[in-house]
Amino acid sequence: MNWKTVAVAAAFAGIAIGSAMAADNGTHDARVGMMKQVGGAAGALSAIAKGTKPYDAEAVKAALTTIAQTAKAFPDQFKPGTETGDSEASPKIWENMDDFKARAAKLSTDAETVLAQLPADAAGVGAALNTLGGNCGGCHQLYRIKKD
Ligand code: HEC
Repeated sequence: MNWKTVAVAAAFAGIAIGSAMAADNGTHDARVGMMKQVGGAAGALSAIAKGTKPYDAEAVKAALTTIAQTAKAFPDQFKPGTETGDSEASPKIWENMDDFKARAAKLSTDAETVLAQLPADAAGVGAALNTLGGNCGGCHQLYRIKKD
């Protein structure tokens, strides 16, 4: 499944679930909630890039802010002892925590870079998504186990 499909699927379900679980720090639920928020934000951007939603600078800004902030906090949800359970998180995360953190930080930095030069139209949003999307796919390939 490509990341855009995942993002769109998660687009609407994500936001409420994510914030409901935000208090539940360091657990599987907390990080899945965060990824749903990131997926929802990416889905909103994707809809604009594809033209299914009109370009809206405020919506673009909000989605990028969600990605930048959530990605920053995301690696803190992988506390020792939470690698078990019904998780798609690979054990490799705990073995390569520095790399994992660096990848999350890169997504956050990339989102901040795009925010600083806010895309002015749908094409710009599409280009930004290509940059951000590389981070999603790269990390998922290494650290997310698909349980389909
Ligand atoms: C630093 C690594 C990393 C990056 C970067 C990353 N993800 Fe994830 N993502 C994960 C991991 C790990 C999981 C599995 C979490 C679990 O099951 O505990 C996941 C799960 C997900 C899920 C499934 C959540 C659920 O419902 O189970 C979605 C949707 C998702 N990511 C979207 C994205 C999008 C969109 C991006 C880019 C904008 C992104 N991710 C960037 C590591 C990452």
